[in-house]
Amino acid sequence: MANDPSRGEFGRPHCIVEPSVWVRRFAPLIAGDTSVLDVACGSGRHTWFFLSRGNSVVAIDRNTEPVRDAGGDPKCEVIEANLENGDPWPLTGRTFGAIVVVNYLFRPLMPVLLESLEAGGVLIYETFARGNETYTRPRNPDHLLKTGELLEWVQGKLQVVGFESGLINIADKQAVVQRICAVNNLGPGKNAPEDAPPCPLPPG
Ligand SMILES: C[S@@+](CC[C@H](N)C(=O)[O-])C[C@H]1O[C@@H](n2cnc3c(N)ncnc32)[C@H](O)[C@@H]1O
Repeated sequence: MANDPSRGEFGRPHCIVEPSVWVRRFAPLIAGDTSVLDVACGSGRHTWFFLSRGNSVVAIDRNTEPVRDAGGDPKCEVIEANLENGDPWPLTGRTFGAIVVVNYLFRPLMPVLLESLEAGGVLIYETFARGNETYTRPRNPDHLLKTGELLEWVQGKLQVVGFESGLINIADKQAVVQRICAVNNLGPGKNAPEDAPPCPLPPG
């Protein structure tokens, strides 16, 4: 795959856009042999990115047509599932060394995602937040994080390594996003984040 001229950096077809800068920034915290869950993978930009690093990836979306190609990689498992229709979580009992969610929000999924993170595992989450409705879609509050919501989700459960909230430029548009990177290393008590071993901070 590496020498295929029809594919760009990270082995993806050229038509597929670059990974998020937030994901790229914190990817160094995820070891190359770690399994990554790409939730609502869409075009697979993060699936391809992590495959290119040597990670095994489970890519899940209600429409997996755009990542059919990635499914040909032995390290990639593509799962087509509607995550919002009340069906059981399709990955019950499975855990991952990293979970990546970008530009997708379905609040009832958050507890199962946190349970699916291995000890020491890394959560990278980035999506649109309140205020975004002024600039662009999504505008539905169900799809927009509330102030500090990502921090609330991981409070007492994960060690926060990076958090940002605010206005960014995406192509020629502005958008309001919230993003977090947090690590599952608080230990059994989970009530003393200051006792968790510090994570190396990738350069900003
Ligand atoms: C804005 S795209 C983000 C794709 C990808 N994470 C990225 O950053 O490039 C949102 C994705 O969520 C998926 N999605 C929306 N509703 C879903 C559902 N009910 N179950 C599973 N996936 C869903 C869509 O199919 C789409 O691929």
